[in-house]
Amino acid sequence: MFSLKKNKRVWVVICLSISSQSTFAFHKDVYEPRVPKAILAQEQQVKSPYPVTPERIEAGRKVYFGVGFCVTCHSKDGTGVNLPGHPSRDFTDAKWQKLRTDGELMWVLKNGSPGTGMPIRVGTDINEEEGWNVIQFIRTFEGK
Ligand code: HEC
Repeated sequence: MFSLKKNKRVWVVICLSISSQSTFAFHKDVYEPRVPKAILAQEQQVKSPYPVTPERIEAGRKVYFGVGFCVTCHSKDGTGVNLPGHPSRDFTDAKWQKLRTDGELMWVLKNGSPGTGMPIRVGTDINEEEGWNVIQFIRTFEGK
């Protein structure tokens, strides 16, 4: 029987190819905020309730390579897979890392990046705590 759960990876790729076709070149500047202007200042202030610890970074690494499916589009080294239509992010880019607050990254995990292949992650495949952990892990790519 066709199982939606087992074929999640396939669905991700299908959704990505549909969304990328009509939205080519949307949000081309990687440094431009992804959070809508009206709520940007407020979302930038949102802080993780969890301290940064080696255990949480490790838990975040497991989410990235496992249930979060992040590695599918963001690659093992965080530089990103060359996706059709809209590139994913280069997490090793120190300028980008410094521009974004954790709150902005959480907004993207909860809302996706509308008009791109970045899907909603928190509330679908991962919960909020896993989201904060994976943000801690993404921070470790900086400058690598
Ligand atoms: C289906 C492909 C796909 C998957 C799966 C995916 N992403 Fe993304 N992600 C993207 C794309 C494409 C972008 C670029 C979007 C943009 O430029 O606005 C992106 C951008 C991002 C950004 C940068 C947003 C910003 O403000 O610049 C973060 C952070 C991110 N993803 C985290 C994650 C995490 C964490 C996971 C796993 C829990 C994940 N992504 C899973 C495709 C994906």
